[in-house]
Amino acid sequence: MQTTGPVAVLERATVRYGSTAALESLTLEIRRGEILGVVGESGAGKSTLLNLLDAATHPTSGHVRILGTDPTVLSGRETRRLRHRIGMVFQSFNLLANRTAQQNVALPLRLQRRKDPALVAELLDYVGLADRADSYPAQLSGGQQQRVAIARALVTRPDLLLADEPTSSLDTRATEDVLELLAGTRRDFDTTVVLVTHELESVGAICDRAAVLERGVLRRVLPVARSAARDERDSYLAHVERVLGA
Ligand SMILES: Nc1ncnc2c1ncn2[C@@H]1O[C@H](COP(=O)(O)OP(=O)(O)OP(=O)(O)O)[C@@H](O)[C@H]1O
Ligand SMILES: [Mg+2]
Repeated sequence: MQTTGPVAVLERATVRYGSTAALESLTLEIRRGEILGVVGESGAGKSTLLNLLDAATHPTSGHVRILGTDPTVLSGRETRRLRHRIGMVFQSFNLLANRTAQQNVALPLRLQRRKDPALVAELLDYVGLADRADSYPAQLSGGQQQRVAIARALVTRPDLLLADEPTSSLDTRATEDVLELLAGTRRDFDTTVVLVTHELESVGAICDRAAVLERGVLRRVLPVARSAARDERDSYLAHVERVLGA
């Protein structure tokens, strides 16, 4: 298993759907241990980029290396093994409604024919939901559901975590919780994170760099001047006052 060098390298990667280029000649390195923000308007190609990084989509032309391998030459089994090293989190959580939090977190292990209740419990505790292990998704708030989804993504200790607008349907407090977890992921799991988002504030809060996509073209990769860390999180009132300038 490759443990040094970039986590992923894209070289002039183009993805076409018919006559549309969802991504056009994209060259980008994802550095080990970084949190890379990906921003762009709707249709800019953000999800397509994540699909490339997850080996769910192959480039129409150009080259991609993920965790040291070229996904286009892998067998189905090798592709599944590669994808086990990559975690995914989505805007809509994508939890199984008829499974408890605990069962949802255990799912990736089951797919690998593993069983490890202690590890599942540890991950639920990590995301602050030890006491909700037996709750079904419908019994949890959006923020709690996303935390379950993060625990599920981390239970296999992935090298790379891909998050596609994970906070877009959450309120401010739940967004902060999720961002804090994503930032902690690097520290506690050595996971590299790619965060797709519309919210520039989120990029400023946790990302090291920001890749700016415009209509399938990578316009620039900017270093992020990290906003000063807050020791204590705002109360909801303090947040409203700050945003409204009251
Ligand atoms: N499976 C597909 N088949 C056809 N066209 C697609 C497919 N996936 C994406 N596209 C097109 O590729 C372009 C980029 O789509 P993509 O989903 O990557 O954008 P996005 O930046 O994630 O947008 P959003 O912010 O709305 O999620 C769009 O024009 C989209 O219509
Ligand atoms: Mg998208």
